[in-house]
Amino acid sequence: MIIDKDFIISNIDKRIYGSFIEHLGRAVYGGIYEPDHPSADEQGFRQDVLDLVKELQVPIIRYPGGNMVSAYNWEDGVGPKEDRPRRLELAWGVIETNQVGTNEFVDWAKKANSEVMMAVNLGTRGIDAARNLVEYANHPGGTAWSDLRKQHGYKEPHNIKTWCLGNEMDGSWQIGQKTPVEYGRLAAETAKAMRLVDPSIELVSCGSSGAGMPTFPEWEAITLDHTYDFADYVSLHQYYENQDNDTANFLANSLDMENFIHTVISTCDYIKAKKCSKKTINLSFDEWNVWFHSKDQDKKLEPWSVAPPQLEDVYTFEDALLVGCMLNTLIRHSDRVKIAAMAQLVNVIAPIMTKNGGGAWKQTIFYPFYYTSVYGRGVALNPIISSPKYDSTDYTDVPYLDTSVVYNEEKDEVVIFAVNRHLEYTLQVDIDARSFEGYEVAEHVVLQNDDPKAANTSGNEQVRPHNKGESYMESGKVVGILPKLSWNMIRLKKQV
Ligand code: AHR
Repeated sequence: MIIDKDFIISNIDKRIYGSFIEHLGRAVYGGIYEPDHPSADEQGFRQDVLDLVKELQVPIIRYPGGNMVSAYNWEDGVGPKEDRPRRLELAWGVIETNQVGTNEFVDWAKKANSEVMMAVNLGTRGIDAARNLVEYANHPGGTAWSDLRKQHGYKEPHNIKTWCLGNEMDGSWQIGQKTPVEYGRLAAETAKAMRLVDPSIELVSCGSSGAGMPTFPEWEAITLDHTYDFADYVSLHQYYENQDNDTANFLANSLDMENFIHTVISTCDYIKAKKCSKKTINLSFDEWNVWFHSKDQDKKLEPWSVAPPQLEDVYTFEDALLVGCMLNTLIRHSDRVKIAAMAQLVNVIAPIMTKNGGGAWKQTIFYPFYYTSVYGRGVALNPIISSPKYDSTDYTDVPYLDTSVVYNEEKDEVVIFAVNRHLEYTLQVDIDARSFEGYEVAEHVVLQNDDPKAANTSGNEQVRPHNKGESYMESGKVVGILPKLSWNMIRLKKQV
């Protein structure tokens, strides 16, 4: 592997380490909000959960959905709590109590040191509800909606900068599913009105719900034809699963993610060329993760309950490895991927789990996300790699070594994130760090486990990292020792 200061991909937009909280399962109720919990603050927010979220240093959090937003009336979630309606929440078959809404979430996000990425309902609603919400949230005052916010106790505008124009509108499961032309027109007109209310906002046009959708990438081509001049980003969503228990193939899924990103970039640039536009649309990969463990158990849940345990995947060690590869993929594409959201953050397909009334703990996937978010800030470098490869059920030429490199000039640090996909062998990586003279290995953190299915549960953390990795310097080169099936962070620091 060769790394060099001059092989620059891009400055990394810290928002690629974003996440997502949906009104779904126990993400909000029993997750971030539990007024009766011993650690709850005066607003009912769990401090133990907030502490873990803060540890992850999540710069932006998407809210309030997800599928849920496509039938959501944002007005239900503001004003005195006792007046808020209980509603049938149709996307997930539950009762929504509306005890948390826009204002509470903005408060919570502030406490978590995060920005909010707000989605508007383009399923059952449209231009009017969206522009009113922007006025309520962002207009300083002196109008009906902004004064209502003040009346609700929020004198200052929230200044929410990033907005999603609906969610997964191509999906048959979506309430108010649209054809690409229907969505494109509605999104363009909604964007126009929202921008008239607040010209400073940034907007995300809905891309496909996944690379496997039959309408991908035609959906992007048609919708962007309408939204190109109004939107700043197009969204990508992708989840992977290992139903077949084929670890080698499962870990290769980040190649699919890579291909997905390439195709969306090509489609955006095709529309750019078609329109002779000077503007470039960037990517918001605002739902990504592993999701499959909980699917069967969710089918057994009783409908119309409040905050049932939905989508509570218990993540394994191998899931953490794929999450590491997915993070590497985002970094390697940081020239075009400017926002991303690991879906989700608490309890629902999440790195953080809680027990109602009890403790909070870290799932396996917490760790690659934590290290990459905290140490992956700066400039992404393009590592030149020569790695042995393998073929799996669905992929050919899968490199055993998956990596990304971040240079943080301020801290005089170069950080190498690396996954060894090999099921049996250690990988020795010879790293020619030619332009980083005087740098030494400061730390080598390793996440490894002999059992790919090892998981963390309340009070039993089987998967946790150690920093006794065996990398060393030899004749000016770094020798990285990556144990079989492992995620690694090798941090080089300039010696003074
Ligand atoms: O994150 C869970 C769900 O996955 C979201 O609500 C939806 O957007 C996607 O299908």
